[in-house]
Amino acid sequence: MAGSLHGQIIESLTPGRVFGSLFLVFVGLLVLDHIWKPTYPENIPVVGYGKGTLASLQNFCYYVFRYRDWVIEGYQKYNKQNRAFVVPAAASRAPDIIIPRSLTKWLLEHPDSVVSAHEAHNDVLYSDYNFLGKVYADDVWHTRVIHKSLARHLSSLVPGIEEEVAVAVDKAFGTDADNWKTLSLWEAWLTIVPPVTNRMLVGEGVCRNIGFCKAMVSFVDQVILNCFALHMVPQIMLPIFGPLITLPNWWMWRKAAKHSLPVIRKRLDDMAKKEAGDPAYDDWVAPEDFITWDIRMAKAEKNYFELDPYVISKRLLPIQFAAIHTTVITGHGIILDLLSSDPAKGYIDGIREEAARVLKEEGGRWTKNGLSRLYRLDSAIRESQRLSNFSCTLMERKVIAEEGITNEEEGWHLPKGTFLTVNLEGLHHDDDLTPNANEYDAFRTSRQREEYEAKPQSERSLEEGLRLKNLGMVTTSDAHLPFGHGRHACPGRFFVAHELKMVVANLLLNYDLKPISERPKPQWIGVTVVPPVDAKIELKRRKGTV
Ligand code: HEM
Repeated sequence: MAGSLHGQIIESLTPGRVFGSLFLVFVGLLVLDHIWKPTYPENIPVVGYGKGTLASLQNFCYYVFRYRDWVIEGYQKYNKQNRAFVVPAAASRAPDIIIPRSLTKWLLEHPDSVVSAHEAHNDVLYSDYNFLGKVYADDVWHTRVIHKSLARHLSSLVPGIEEEVAVAVDKAFGTDADNWKTLSLWEAWLTIVPPVTNRMLVGEGVCRNIGFCKAMVSFVDQVILNCFALHMVPQIMLPIFGPLITLPNWWMWRKAAKHSLPVIRKRLDDMAKKEAGDPAYDDWVAPEDFITWDIRMAKAEKNYFELDPYVISKRLLPIQFAAIHTTVITGHGIILDLLSSDPAKGYIDGIREEAARVLKEEGGRWTKNGLSRLYRLDSAIRESQRLSNFSCTLMERKVIAEEGITNEEEGWHLPKGTFLTVNLEGLHHDDDLTPNANEYDAFRTSRQREEYEAKPQSERSLEEGLRLKNLGMVTTSDAHLPFGHGRHACPGRFFVAHELKMVVANLLLNYDLKPISERPKPQWIGVTVVPPVDAKIELKRRKGTV
């Protein structure tokens, strides 16, 4: 009897039924996710298909393709009237409340223990899994290292970065001064950014190692892919699917660590010997890079866990994620925006003239001071970051205080678990904030800065000087947000400004480039841009520059 029942059960387990049941369980868990999501106040309007079960299903299905349209619609309907609105999210995530510009200051004033950037980043990026362990997600030590050390060592980093840029640009764009060459702009930036950025992270040598750079780029690509997959996984199943989906990350880390671990071990050893007063190290100075800064901070704070070479090699991972594709997308956008501008506007010639002049004044080598005087290039980059934004919304924050947060003026209370963000897409394309906001005006801010610089000293006012300085690409505001704003604004932006300026200056000084008739358009997947990676450019090395 028992045997026949057993047989019947086995017989009834067809692959279709097993798959169907698993699918139903999966959908059931997603519905549970939906029910467990924090409830937002009724008086905050919603975009997308609205509320209710059918609408929620439609929101889930169309989130990937319609998110940007919803963000634009909500900006016009609500944010412009200083009202917040709710935008649907991926199946497993709580929706975002997109606040108007008038509430940015209010949002940023909350302490991290009430409204958390860190928790929001961890949720969006599934950091517990993607960055190889909860310990690396819970304590953002790596971010503290960058906050503490990067900006203060910028001047001394410039010569190394300049050297790396020269090598990488030659490699990416070639040295043939006789023939025009057509190449993928995306591939070129992917050839340049990893070694140049890694000169600051892991130092000379490893930064040029192709195996290391490839592993790091693959790691970052994998994190992005994993995030899309994990967005579809019910929260309750994350402890199972999280480690499974992120298994390739371990493989890529191992490939990179093969190259970085020997350098980390040697650095630990060298620094220990120097500290112990070994006479062989009297003249030895530690290279200024992330590895040294990390070790220094760990020693200063007596944090022995962070002195483990494996830990240091893993601390590099979230920084690679923050640094590589953001810079590649930005650099790619700048060149496309410049090449597709009307040549009669003279942007490229203007930037080239300025770069040649300032470089000559600096004696032929870039310095922090020289780079800060590239007003036209600074303006062209800032303008591209504004117009060709890489994300629709940014500065994700999560309410973590048990009691939630209240905004008396708006008359709403947001429970723990609420996600808030700002409308980058709307703000960056608003004619009321930027005249002709949809036009790429490369010299939008440099015209004023150059006019000011041309005035005699007696006619310059300190106030005006300060106002104009704040138009620089690294200055954030509640309307200019490519690097975020407030205390969690990107601490890498000062470095990026140097890096991008050196790459673009090098490119324009050493190559002739053909204009592009129309700027290739990006696609959008949910909140994120997919740049036109198949865009090609035509260029030729200028005679006498090799
Ligand atoms: C063009 C390139 C870059 C762009 C557009 C960019 C953009 C951003 C943005 C928007 C944020 C703030 C996120 C928020 O408030 O939620 C951020 C944070 C951060 N960025 Fe960048 N970034 C770039 C390059 C870099 C580089 C090169 C580094 C590393 C040296 C870096 C390291 C970081 C870190 C550590 C944070 C977290 C800061 C914190 O939470 O306090 N970024 N970045």
